[in-house]
Amino acid sequence: MKRVTKLLLPIAAAALAGTSAHAQSRADVSVKIEMDQAGPVIAPEIYGQFAEDLGRGIYDGIWVGPDSKIPNTNGYRTDVMQAIQKLHPPVIRWPGGCFADQYDWRDGIGPRDKRPKRINYTWGGVTYDNSFGTNEFMNYSEALGAEAYIAGNMGSLPPHAMQQWIEYITADGDTTLAKERRANGRDKPWKNLKYFGVGNESWGCGGNMKPEYAADLHRRYATFVWKPDEAPPITKVASGANVDDYRWTETMMKDASNMMDALSLHYYTFPGSWEDKGPATGFAEDKWASTLKHAEFMDELIRKHGAIMDKYDPKKRIGLYVDEWGTWYDQEPGSHPGFLYQQNTLRDAEVAALTLNIFHRHTDRVKMANIAQMVNVLQAMILTRGDKMLLTPTYYVFDMYQPFMGATPLKAEVNGPDYVNGDISLNMVDVSAARGKDGKLYLALVNTDPDRAAHVVTGMSGSATGRILTGPAMDTHNTFDAPNTIHPVAYRGTSDGGKLAFDLPAKSIAVVAVDQR
Ligand code: AHR
Repeated sequence: MKRVTKLLLPIAAAALAGTSAHAQSRADVSVKIEMDQAGPVIAPEIYGQFAEDLGRGIYDGIWVGPDSKIPNTNGYRTDVMQAIQKLHPPVIRWPGGCFADQYDWRDGIGPRDKRPKRINYTWGGVTYDNSFGTNEFMNYSEALGAEAYIAGNMGSLPPHAMQQWIEYITADGDTTLAKERRANGRDKPWKNLKYFGVGNESWGCGGNMKPEYAADLHRRYATFVWKPDEAPPITKVASGANVDDYRWTETMMKDASNMMDALSLHYYTFPGSWEDKGPATGFAEDKWASTLKHAEFMDELIRKHGAIMDKYDPKKRIGLYVDEWGTWYDQEPGSHPGFLYQQNTLRDAEVAALTLNIFHRHTDRVKMANIAQMVNVLQAMILTRGDKMLLTPTYYVFDMYQPFMGATPLKAEVNGPDYVNGDISLNMVDVSAARGKDGKLYLALVNTDPDRAAHVVTGMSGSATGRILTGPAMDTHNTFDAPNTIHPVAYRGTSDGGKLAFDLPAKSIAVVAVDQR
C-alpha cells in the first residue's frame, strides 16, 4: 500500500516560514455566486462511508456482540449507531479495502459460534471470529437507511463466489441460498444492495496485477455480477487507479468500460511524504500547510482521470467513485501495529471540507466517495475506547454539510489572497455554494490560514445563519476525557455596505443557509 505522489513538498523550507507577519491582520476576500451556472446535482453518495474489517473499525467500533457489557442493540454499539444515524449516511462500503480480497463471505454467515476463526493477514495478523458478517452488515446498513456497497473478492476467490454472495443477499423464491438466508434469520431479500465492487486495489493488495490483466479479469468477474431481478440493478464498480496512475485508468477504460458502471479512485492525504507522514496531533505549521496542499491535489486527480474517462465515455455514463479518501498519519503511539488508529483534529476537518468542496465541483463525474473510515480507522467520524465514544471534527463537518446532499451546486468565484507557508500556497478562503433540495441557498466557507481571519463580502444582500467549527490550535481535538473540546457553534453572517458578509476566524469552517433579499 505504498502511496506514490509527485506532490512531495519542500518540508524544510516550509518549516522555516514564519506566520506571525499575518497573525494580526484580516484578509479581505470577495465571493460571487453565479446563480445561473448550476452543475449536475451533488450525488448524496459523495457523503458515503467506508467500514473495513481492519483494526477496531468493525469489532469494537460498530460491533460488540449482543452479550457485551457495552450498551448495544442486537450486538451493534448503540452510541455509535445513533451518532452515525444522525449523519444519514447514503451508502456504506464493506468489508474492505484490502481485506476484501482475502475474505470469503461464507465464513460470515450462520450461527455465530460455529463461524470459523481466521487470521486477518492484511491488517495486523490478528484473529477475528467472523461474528460480523453478511447478515450483520446488511441489517446494519438497512437500519441506517444506507445503501450497501459490497467489495467482492477478485484477488483470491473464483467469480462463482461473487455470484453466490449476491444470490444469498438478493434471491427470493426457492433457491438453496435463499433458504439458507432464511435459516439464518432473514426472510426477505435485502433491497439495499446497490453497489458491488469487483475487487479492490487490484494494482496492489488485491493481486498486484498489471492494468491489462486487471481489465481482463474485471471483464471475467463482472460477467457474473448480476441478478435476474434487476430492480434495483447492481452497479458494478471496477477497481481503479492509485493516485495519479493514469495508465491504469486509460487501460481499464479502453479494455473494460463496457463492463462497468463505475471506476474507483483511491487517494489518501498526508503531509510530506508517505515514508514521513508525522503524527496526527502535535504537528508544526509546515505539516498543516502540506496536508491541506495535498488535499487540494484531489482536484487535479479528478480532472485528469476524468479527462481520460471522457475519451471512452463522453456521455459520462460511468461514475468516478473516490471510494477511499482521507488523511493518513502515523498511527497513535501504543496502538496495535496495523490498526491504523489515529486522532482527528481541526486539520482533518479542513481536509474533509476542502475535499467535499472539490467533489461539489465535479458532480458531472464524481458520483460517489467513501471517506476512510467510519469508526476508529484513519480519518474516522468516531473514536471509541471501551464504553466511551467521541465525535471527531470530521464528524462535525459531515454533519454541517448535510444540506449539500442532493443539492444543486452553483459556481462560486472567490477573490482573495493565498495562504502561504514556505513554498506552499493555496487559496486562503474556499467556498462551495449550492441550492439545497429545500430550495435554500447554502454556502460552505473554509479559511485555511491557521493565523489570519478573513472578511468575506458577497455580492448578495440578505442574512445568513448556520454553524462554524474552529479551535484555538491547529490540532484542536476531542479526547475521551474531554469529548466536547471542539464542536460546531451557532454562526451568522454580517453586513458590509448592504452586502451579506462573513467574518471567518483563522482555521475555520462555516456552513450557512442564506436568506436572500
Ligand atoms: O483504508 C485502508 C486501506 O487503504 C484499504 O484497505 C486499502 O484499500 C487502501 O490501501
